[in-house]
Amino acid sequence: MQQSVETRSTIDDAVAHEQRVYESSNPTSGRKFEAAKEVLPGGNTRGSLFFGPFPLFFSSARSSKVIDADGHEYSDFGNDLTAALFGHSNEAILSALKAGLDNRMSYGGTHDHEVAYAREICHRFRSIERVRFLTSGTEANLAAIQLPKAETERRLVLGFFGGYHGNTLNWLEPESEMNVDRADVRLARFNHIETVEQIVRKEGKDIAAILVEPIMGSAGGFMADTTFLSRLRSICDETGALLIFDEVQTARFAVGGYQSVIGVYPDLTTLGKFFGGGLNFGALCGPARHMDRLGPGHERMLSHGGTFSNNVLTMIAGHAALKKVFVQENVDRLNARSNELRSALQRQANSRGVPLQLGSFGSLISTHFQADLPQGSEDVKIPLIFRKLFQLFLINNGIFITRRGQLTVSMANTEDEFSALENAFGIFLGQYGDLTDDFD
Ligand SMILES: Cc1ncc(COP(=O)(O)O)c(C=O)c1O
Repeated sequence: MQQSVETRSTIDDAVAHEQRVYESSNPTSGRKFEAAKEVLPGGNTRGSLFFGPFPLFFSSARSSKVIDADGHEYSDFGNDLTAALFGHSNEAILSALKAGLDNRMSYGGTHDHEVAYAREICHRFRSIERVRFLTSGTEANLAAIQLPKAETERRLVLGFFGGYHGNTLNWLEPESEMNVDRADVRLARFNHIETVEQIVRKEGKDIAAILVEPIMGSAGGFMADTTFLSRLRSICDETGALLIFDEVQTARFAVGGYQSVIGVYPDLTTLGKFFGGGLNFGALCGPARHMDRLGPGHERMLSHGGTFSNNVLTMIAGHAALKKVFVQENVDRLNARSNELRSALQRQANSRGVPLQLGSFGSLISTHFQADLPQGSEDVKIPLIFRKLFQLFLINNGIFITRRGQLTVSMANTEDEFSALENAFGIFLGQYGDLTDDFD
């Protein structure tokens, strides 16, 4: 671990320096990565966790700490790209799981846990009367766009440049051949309602659904104007399309989802990540009038299975997480503490004259080292290499974040960790803040 205060002359020098420190501190992760390439494509299973020169290999995680293969302990502000909202191995969730493990690895049948868990979700979300459990956010969004197509007998889905709804609905890379239904997707600019209206004017009668993250997560924490989301709501009401909120990330902001914060309600909601209490999870949710089409007994039933969709351990972990940990008091405390962190970081940047815009909301803090707050991916000016510098610097100083540059705060992060992060952030600004001049 290092804390040099020397000023580097160019971004390339700075990155080269941090990378040398990183490589020499993490020989075991480096070796393991080389070995992983023999059996995993590019040594990797989950693209969003990869970062060069090689990712850290973790050996354990507890509460707010992750430990890597070289024995370094990090304060975790990556928090599994938002899935570890409760930190790692939360005691309340773990003890429910341990009790469940005794005789319930799998039933291969219907059980009470799925009903209890669904009931709790319905109770919390005003727009939800039925829940279809699935195994990932990707799967939830795939189902979410098929249901309106069947309901409306239309073929198009309207989404947004920079939207990320899973590995086959990745509109950060709209041209990717991994994406499904490319010919039937229309993309507008986030927060630019006129681009939506343009598409609707031309093809409105063919649009089955509008799919949107109410705060764009993976792209950089862009907040939607509430008026923008309200207008999407009214466009759907006018045209008969269904509005889908992808709340896989944003549901963390309130027990009734971010929709309850802004007071704009979708037809369908997708959930994922932390809702599984740390296990694989996805869910498509909505009112009975749409969702019941997925159920046996419906005269035009959309047949839809999934071996692990009602996995008993996921249902137990998710239900325990909601009942015991994801309660409004804890959510409020997390958002308030994260907002203090947000203000402290901003003050540091302002006092040093380093441009910084902090995106997203509450416990998700996206860092944009530029003068204007981006409204969508097209407004981001800072190049990826600066994110690399920021990430490697923090890792070299005992704080783990992902390459995305987002500080993801969990309920387990401690006051000491907030102080350490603020301190490291100040050193980073002092050492490298001037480099942002090159990008404005
Ligand atoms: C907003 C959003 N939707 C959907 C997904 C996909 O979820 P999963 O990775 O569980 O398939 C993600 C994952 O990052 C996400 O952030």
